[in-house]
Amino acid sequence: MKTIADVNLVKNFISEKDFSDIEPLLVHSWNTLLNKTGAGATFTGWVNWPSALLGSGNILRQMEQTCTRMAEYKPDTVVVIGIGGSYLGARAVYDALTPPFGSSDKPQMIFAGHQMDADYHFRLLQYLRDRNPVVVVISKSGTTTEPAIAFRLIRTLMEEKYGADAADRIVAVTDEKKGALRSLAISQGYETYVIPDDIGGRFSVFTPVGLLPLALCGFNIRQLLQGAATCEAELTQNNTLQTNPAMQYAAVRQIMYRQGKRTELMATFCPRLATLSEWWKQLFGESEGKHHKGIFPASLVFSTDLHSLGQFVQDGLRIFFETFLSVQQLPEDVQIPVLNSDSDELLYLEGKKLSYVNRKAEEATRLAHAEGGVPVMALEMDNLNEFNLGELMYFFEFACALSAYTLGVNPFDQPGVEAYKQKMFELLGKKK
Ligand code: PA5
Repeated sequence: MKTIADVNLVKNFISEKDFSDIEPLLVHSWNTLLNKTGAGATFTGWVNWPSALLGSGNILRQMEQTCTRMAEYKPDTVVVIGIGGSYLGARAVYDALTPPFGSSDKPQMIFAGHQMDADYHFRLLQYLRDRNPVVVVISKSGTTTEPAIAFRLIRTLMEEKYGADAADRIVAVTDEKKGALRSLAISQGYETYVIPDDIGGRFSVFTPVGLLPLALCGFNIRQLLQGAATCEAELTQNNTLQTNPAMQYAAVRQIMYRQGKRTELMATFCPRLATLSEWWKQLFGESEGKHHKGIFPASLVFSTDLHSLGQFVQDGLRIFFETFLSVQQLPEDVQIPVLNSDSDELLYLEGKKLSYVNRKAEEATRLAHAEGGVPVMALEMDNLNEFNLGELMYFFEFACALSAYTLGVNPFDQPGVEAYKQKMFELLGKKK
C-alpha cells in the first residue's frame, strides 16, 4: 500500500506553471534536509531513524524485554504521561487501531499530563485505584510542568498501591543525561529509554516515545517501523515532484499559501483518525507557525462536521484548502436492513453497506467543496494497520520539514511555546 497524494481536485486551482515554478524550491528544501545544511539541522536525526532502528535492533529488543517483564503484572492499563510530541504519536496510533468502544484483548492506553485539568486528574487517580496499571512517563527536557505534576500524582498513587514494587511498574523516557526526570529515574531505579538528542518531540513517534507505549498495549511496532522505513526509502531517494509524493504535498501547500489560502483543513470520514489529525496539527503547527508565517492546520471529522463547520467550508470566507485522509477498507461493516419499506425514506439504500454510503458521502463532499472554491487533495490508505500508519506518519514528517524549509522557517524549533510558560511561572511564583 502506498499513501498517495491525489492532487486532481486541486488542479483547477494550480497551473502547471505554479508547479514548475515551485519545484526548484522544493528540490532545494529536499537537499537542505538530506544534506543537513538548513536551520535546525542538528534535529534531523529522525530522517534515517526508522531504517537505522530496524537495522540495529537493540532498542527494539530492549522494548520487547520490557513488555515481557511488564506482562508479568498482567496490566489492564498503560498510563502515558506526556504532552505535545511526547504523547500525541502514541495516542494517534492507539486511537486509529482501537475499536470505538475499546478492545477486550489489549490493555487500555490512558493519558495524563497532556493538560492540567484538575477534575480530569482527580478522576484519573480514582479510576486507577481499581485498575492494574503500568506507567510510561515521557519528557525529553524532563522539566515540562504538565507531565511533571501528573507524574508526581501518579507515582504517589503507585507507591501507595504497590509499595516497593511501584518502581518496577514505571518506565521513564527522557534525555540521556540531563533533566529532572533523568535524575528522578536514577534515584528511584526506574527503567529508562533515551530520546535521541537529534530528534525533537513532534518527530519522535518512531523512537521509544511512541513505540514503547504502543508495544506495551500489544501493537506491532516492528510493522509501524517497517511502514516508516518503506516511506523513508521512497522519500529520501527521490527528489523530483513527479517521483516524491511528500514533495507534491509540500508543493501544493506552499502554492496554496502563496495564493492566500492560509488554513489547511485535514478532513476525514473515519473518526478513528481524529487523533491522527491532532498529531498532524501539532507537527505542522509547531513546525511552521513562526515569524508571523505559516499555514494554520485545522481538522474536521465528517460527516459529523458537515452539519456544523461544513457550512463555513462550503460557503464562508475562502481561506482554506482541504486534505482528505481516507481509508478504503475498515475493519468492520454493517448492512442497512432490508425491510421492503420506505417509511423512513431509505428504501433506495436497503441492503447497501454503510461503508458504501459513507464513501459516496466522501466523494460528494470532495466534489462539492472543490466546486465551492476549496482546493481539495487526498491521502489514502487501503486499511488501518501499523504499517500504513507508520508510512503515513513518516510521510507527514518529511513533507512538514520540506514545507517549512520552503516557507523559510526552521521546522525544528518552537520558540513561541516558551511565552506562556514564562508568564505562568511568574504568576505561580516559580524561582528563576
Ligand atoms: O514537539 C515538541 O518538541 C514539543 O511538542 C514537545 O514534545 C512538548 O513540549 C513536550 O516536551 P518534553 O518532551 O520536553 O516534555
